[in-house]
Amino acid sequence: MTSDRSQTTALTNIGTLITNDPTLGDGRLGIRHDAGVVFADGVVSWVGGSADTPSADVGHDLGGRAVLPGFVESHSHLVFAGDRAEEFASRMAGERYGAGGIRTTIEATRRATDEQLRANMMRLADESLRSGSTTLEIKTGYGQSTEHELRCATIAGAATSEVTLLAAHVPPPEYAGRVDDYVRMVVDEMIGVCAPHAKWIDVFCERGAFDRDQAHAVLSAGIAAGLKPRVHGNQLQAGPGVQLAVELGAASVDHVTHVTRADIDALAGSSTVATLLPGADFSTRSTYPDARALLDAGVTVALGADCNPGTSYTTSLPFCIAIAVRDLHMTPDEAVWAATAGGALALQRSDVGTLAIGSRADAIALAAPSHLHLAYRPGVALVDHVWRSGDLEYT
Ligand code: NIG
Ligand code: FE
Repeated sequence: MTSDRSQTTALTNIGTLITNDPTLGDGRLGIRHDAGVVFADGVVSWVGGSADTPSADVGHDLGGRAVLPGFVESHSHLVFAGDRAEEFASRMAGERYGAGGIRTTIEATRRATDEQLRANMMRLADESLRSGSTTLEIKTGYGQSTEHELRCATIAGAATSEVTLLAAHVPPPEYAGRVDDYVRMVVDEMIGVCAPHAKWIDVFCERGAFDRDQAHAVLSAGIAAGLKPRVHGNQLQAGPGVQLAVELGAASVDHVTHVTRADIDALAGSSTVATLLPGADFSTRSTYPDARALLDAGVTVALGADCNPGTSYTTSLPFCIAIAVRDLHMTPDEAVWAATAGGALALQRSDVGTLAIGSRADAIALAAPSHLHLAYRPGVALVDHVWRSGDLEYT
């Protein structure tokens, strides 16, 4: 559902409003009660008390609902074919997750037509929007050849401007035992061809995928081609991913499930965001990251859903917030901030993740009086209104 962007929209009778702007309300979340908001020209133009809300072309009485900034999904892998439900079932029966399953999806993705890949991606992007994610990053990574990574990046660009070239996810089957040859091909050929279609460069720095030097080579080549770095690191065991991300000034390092004290200290002294992906730890039956240690050290933490067919086949940030609160011991306020303002920092975006004056009018309403219900009522589809750039997309 879309409307004329020149129309103004007033939201009134908001039970709990999260602005993420401390100048507009209480605490880091800038919380107000009995609030009103006005959207004009696709941005937030007014925030105040419900009774004082200026009139607008369109009015929504929220009946005491909570209103939050739309979630900022900074980590997803939506360009793929097939699924790996059997692999998931085997894991639940005791098998360990190994990155090798990624090759199953590479093979299925290479066989799929552009139209099949686009339709599957759009289905998942729509699912993500319905669960409240109004900004969406999408990675390639299931092509792993110049031809197929270009195809995946181009398809991702139809759904978002936040395209990440995950040029080095796992070495594809034709490079088995020749990982350095694959890295050379990525550096000498793939990145140059694909960079015009992406904003970010990413690498899976993990045993069984790419080691520190290989990851460094890929990220450096991406940076030289004008891309900004982000890293998959420290998912399956402690390793060099976090330190490499900090060293290269990456916007974020994602997973961060197995970290040392030195990793935490390095993150705390940096501008690199630690993006936690608890859906992946849930679905691989891994231990969860030590979010408390990260937060208590002053690390900036984001939450992502990491939708992909292997480790986390969910698009739901509300589900991840519930895990983050229940199992990662984040407070509901920390978890909501991480899925909104934290995601925005992970994408180096200042226009989303908050409902400050001038922010993009991306907001969600919950069928609940406060954001606490996102964790308190797990598995319930609470998001019942989604506005993007001021347009009501779902209700
Ligand atoms: O973010 N860690 C590497 N990549 C994905 C998993 C990909 C897969 O198993 O297909 C992740 O968890
Ligand atoms: Fe991922």
